[in-house]
Amino acid sequence: MKAPTLSAICVLLGSLITGSLAAADAVEDKYKQACHICHDTGVANAPKVHDVEAWKPRLDKGMDALLNSVKSGLNAMPPGGMCTDCSDEDYKALIGYMSSPKP
Ligand code: HEC
Repeated sequence: MKAPTLSAICVLLGSLITGSLAAADAVEDKYKQACHICHDTGVANAPKVHDVEAWKPRLDKGMDALLNSVKSGLNAMPPGGMCTDCSDEDYKALIGYMSSPKP
């Protein structure tokens, strides 16, 4: 019964890999749908995407404070950051995406 076991492991590994790739794509898609309009070019002082230096002082506030800023809006940023279907987890992933260096 060695062969079926091996192929089962391959299927499992394969779905793990494509699963995590799909998650990364989903974050990028959401970024492009909602946040990029302002965070690509830094409209009205928005910290730019992948600009680690610009994000440092923001991250110092802590993830909960940042999550709160997006959900309730901050100065020029509208509540929700123009995302209509983002969960807290999506926002956290988006903040992580924007504040990390360009992949
Ligand atoms: C209409 C423009 C606009 C859109 C769309 C937008 N933002 Fe922003 N965002 C801003 C601006 C402007 C700031 C800087 C606000 C300030 O500090 O005055 C900002 C700041 C932030 C901050 C830092 C908040 C803090 O407390 O320092 C986070 C986090 C953030 N945006 C996340 C997002 C996410 C996630 C999205 C997409 C779901 C998004 N933004 C969409 C304009 C926008």
